[in-house]
Amino acid sequence: MCGIVGYIGKNNAVKPLIDGLYRLEYRGYDSAGIALLTQDNIFLKKVAGRVNELDKAIRNEPLQSHIGIAHTRWATHGVPNDINAHPHTDCKNQIAVVHNGIIENFRTLKQFLVKKGHKFQSETDSEVIPHLIEEFYDGDLMAAVRKACSYIKGTYGFVIISLASPGYIIASRMGSPLVIGRGKGEYIVASDLAAIISYTNEVIYLKDGDIAEISSDHLRVEGCESGMVFPEIEKVNLTLEQIERRGYKHFMLKEIYEQPIILRDTIRGRLNYEDGIARLNGISNYIEDLRDADRIIIIACGTSWHAGLIGEYMIESLAEIPVEVEYGSEFRYRRPVLKKGTICIVVSQSGETADTLAALREAKRHGATVLGICNVVGSSIARETDAGIYIHAGPEIGVASTKAFMGQIMTFALLSLLLGRLRRLSVDEGRDIINAIEKIPDQLQSLLDKLPDKIKKLARTFKDHRNFLYLGRGYNFPVALEGALKLKEISYIHAEGYPAAEMKHGPIALIDKNMPVVVIAIKDAIYDKVISNIEEIRARQGIVIAVGSEGDTQLKKYVDYVIYVPETMDHLYPLLTILPLQLLAYYIADYRGLDVDKPRNLAKSVTVE
Ligand code: M6R
Repeated sequence: MCGIVGYIGKNNAVKPLIDGLYRLEYRGYDSAGIALLTQDNIFLKKVAGRVNELDKAIRNEPLQSHIGIAHTRWATHGVPNDINAHPHTDCKNQIAVVHNGIIENFRTLKQFLVKKGHKFQSETDSEVIPHLIEEFYDGDLMAAVRKACSYIKGTYGFVIISLASPGYIIASRMGSPLVIGRGKGEYIVASDLAAIISYTNEVIYLKDGDIAEISSDHLRVEGCESGMVFPEIEKVNLTLEQIERRGYKHFMLKEIYEQPIILRDTIRGRLNYEDGIARLNGISNYIEDLRDADRIIIIACGTSWHAGLIGEYMIESLAEIPVEVEYGSEFRYRRPVLKKGTICIVVSQSGETADTLAALREAKRHGATVLGICNVVGSSIARETDAGIYIHAGPEIGVASTKAFMGQIMTFALLSLLLGRLRRLSVDEGRDIINAIEKIPDQLQSLLDKLPDKIKKLARTFKDHRNFLYLGRGYNFPVALEGALKLKEISYIHAEGYPAAEMKHGPIALIDKNMPVVVIAIKDAIYDKVISNIEEIRARQGIVIAVGSEGDTQLKKYVDYVIYVPETMDHLYPLLTILPLQLLAYYIADYRGLDVDKPRNLAKSVTVE
């Protein structure tokens, strides 16, 4: 949420800063700004709108500076306009700051600073940071930053430049990620790797409480209270190709098409056919705890929460362990009853979602073992869990999550196979599941080869409808929720996901000849019941778009449109049924002329409460 980039080094800072902002724009895109340290002042430019607007605004200026910071914003406090855009400065324009996070006590701090004579320009919480540093500055910038940090309550990742220390940038984090890339004679600090990897693959992840003083050839890190720390330099293997669109119109489409590959990566080396079991080395020290758990609590937000629901159904039916699924934002403020023997699993693509992270910490505070299912390697959640499983989906840039969801479901399929085998399934049953899992990437590829034309036709037919209903049962109820979320997020069409049989308890009142209803009606254990639900819709003239199992020619009789997916085991169907719903949402949004990768009001990772 919000993108931060800072540069210090031998080259002109403008290019790495603007390039970095373009790469970070998926984190927030309502306004953007840049501050550059020049001979005797700080050049500042801020604009409402996309990075492109900022780029245009400075393109013809002869800017030369070796030190600068830049920001692309997702508004929390204060509307998106030029004034509220970052960087923010102190009263004398000597200190400039870009900030990510929320300063919860900013009103108190602002009152304190106003009484001291500070003049504020914006409505943001972030602006207190330069003023606090200005207030505490006494010839030692690091000391002033340290003191400012001690006054701030909330979350932050911030980077500052100051005329008083022209050879340095200073960065600090508490709850909001910052990573520093070490190049040759240059350092780049950013809120994520995307802004760094075209310059270097040597990185340092700051930890909560760290304050880094960075010059072009030296890095010094202090823990907020513990004095000098010696941060580890890590080598990352992310490539530029992985974060580029490679000819696809949008990242979301590229990521949908990558799904067969990422599933192969998720299962690679994790299936043991001989024993009919999955192998998950990341959690090997906790397998017995999981096997003997009296309850598992899955915690997540958004799409990851939907994957968690599928995980619940899988683990309960294959392993017979009771599972509950919680929203991170609810769990963190409840009084969760966690007994010895309860295991929490947090699920997050980014590994930085503030509510999920806070829930993780709350669970640990209660003494629970917390395992993670994450995509981003080295993220806060990946670091703070006791152990975890990476889904290996690669960088997901599209704000609407697709391939990460797929990787999360597959990870739950592996985990439920493992636990199922340890508790009740025979080797042969395990082998049958492995056979079905191994087919999924090819089945998905065959769908990607033949579905798009059909879905495009549907998308053209329905793009102007104002409401949609999505229905599913069992394993496919969370798929209905996810299909509806995808449509809402990127097309701004109202959509409800519902368990098919619950429809008659209320939402059926919405059905008339203008209501498209997407129903997942695959040939599973509750197929006949779903057909009855379809009849109920048809009786009220609703339009039914069904997702059915290949070979089910009967289904055509009951519905207006049908999209077939290959047959698989009941619990693996979500890996196939979600694909047409992702494509439908994508093409509807695209035909509506919307910016699919940057839907309004959203940002890729929600690092604020
Ligand atoms: O990074 P996380 O998986 O923790 O993110 C959770 C949600 O913010 C995320 O899934 C969100 O709902 C997506 N925009 C869905 O497409």
